[in-house]
Amino acid sequence: MGGLGQLALSFGLVAIGAGLGLVACAPEVQPAPVAPAATYVPKTHAPGPMAGVRPTGMAGALAAAGLDVRQLPPLEQLTPAQKQRVMRTFTESLGVPCLGCHAEDAFVADTRRKRIAKRMYNEMVRALTLRDGEPVYCDTCHDGTMYMLDRHDATKLTKHMSETLVGQFARVDGRVHDCTTCHGEPPDYHMLTTWKTTSAPDIVPVDTPASANVMSPPLPPPGPRVPADCGPRSEGCPLQRYMRGWVSIATANDDEASLAIALDRIAAFSPDPAWSWASVSRQGAAAARRGDLAEAKKSCETCHSLYRPAWRASYRTRTVP
Ligand code: HEC
Ligand code: HEC
Ligand code: HEC
Ligand code: HEC
Repeated sequence: MGGLGQLALSFGLVAIGAGLGLVACAPEVQPAPVAPAATYVPKTHAPGPMAGVRPTGMAGALAAAGLDVRQLPPLEQLTPAQKQRVMRTFTESLGVPCLGCHAEDAFVADTRRKRIAKRMYNEMVRALTLRDGEPVYCDTCHDGTMYMLDRHDATKLTKHMSETLVGQFARVDGRVHDCTTCHGEPPDYHMLTTWKTTSAPDIVPVDTPASANVMSPPLPPPGPRVPADCGPRSEGCPLQRYMRGWVSIATANDDEASLAIALDRIAAFSPDPAWSWASVSRQGAAAARRGDLAEAKKSCETCHSLYRPAWRASYRTRTVP
């Protein structure tokens, strides 16, 4: 009887999973425990659907270490005993063995993976909650696998970034969550590469006087946003849609030709002829056209710091002819 019930239940779940094409998306389906691989398996970015996000299943394991998943102290502040338990949540969430991150001979040795893991913990997990209020931990995004982005299709990837990594999350500090939370300003679309190059900073409070180790993630610029929410596909905000869907792809791909076209097009969005908006944008386009990507990217930061707050307060719904 019990066996029959169980059979029916698992059949039901398989059917749900197959219907969605994404088993990992259905919150009732617990991910199968992942046995650490014997040897480290290098990265594979498989093409295919990118899994959604789910509330963490690690709250219990963290509680056993005396940690509240909603109020995690910075990684560097954990006691050795707490770290030990947290390490097991890492291996389980990411599906890698200890040596997936650590050097064989010394656990204290700094490695590129440790740098990334520490920043994911300190600057992403601690900063985010799911939009519906459920807590976030490594398994929320990783669900037993180190790599889950399909980087073969830039359009699909950007859509995933907008709809999942922005759309499904909120910031615990209550500020508006957007691309800036993770990519910073100016946006760094290869931040993992950047994170690998230097030791992960410890967390210090925001109001400590200037220091290299300021609290991350950087805060999006304050000020009113009208409308406050542009919708899951930026339907309400044409320029945001263009920035997210085109400009960020061209930038991530270091595609000078597309970036030049995009920056010329942004110039046409200028809402006020008295603004230097159009000239900033066209100078960026000219730099991209002569192959000077660093100079072209300066136009992002210049325009964002000069005009983004005003745009967000008054022009968000504006379209260009
Ligand atoms: C996803 C990457 C990752 C995995 C997998 C991982 N660790 Fe760690 N480990 C870290 C990071 C990051 C730190 C540094 C914490 C800090 O900065 O205080 C750390 C710290 C440690 C430390 C303390 C030394 C130090 O640097 O503070 C020990 C011991 C340790 N890990 C053991 C393990 C063991 C045992 C496993 C397997 C069960 C494991 N780790 C799996 C990332 C990882
Ligand atoms: C909000 C989503 C999210 C959360 C939460 C998250 N990560 Fe990640 N992580 C990512 C994404 C996206 C990537 C890039 C994956 C890819 O390249 O396919 C990544 C990549 C990584 C990598 C691989 C870096 C490399 O290329 O070698 C490590 C290690 C990692 N994360 C550790 C962690 C740890 C540890 C936690 C929890 C403390 C965590 N992440 C939480 C989104 C997340
Ligand atoms: C919760 C954190 C998070 C948010 C929010 C987020 N991203 Fe990402 N994004 C990542 C991570 C992690 C990577 C992997 C970076 C790397 O490989 O260095 C990534 C990679 C990318 C890439 C580069 C992919 C490649 O392979 O070249 C693009 C483009 C991108 N994001 C665009 C966006 C846009 C646009 C937004 C806002 C709509 C956004 N992201 C919001 C975490 C985030
Ligand atoms: C001439 C002005 C201007 C230039 C140049 C410009 N932007 Fe923007 N960008 C904006 C404005 C204004 C917004 C805010 C749109 C909104 O929120 O409605 C924005 C928003 C964005 C967003 C969306 C942020 C989010 O989380 O919603 C991304 C991503 C972005 N820009 C990337 C870039 C990149 C990369 C470049 C440079 C290659 C660039 N922008 C150049 C004006 C500009």
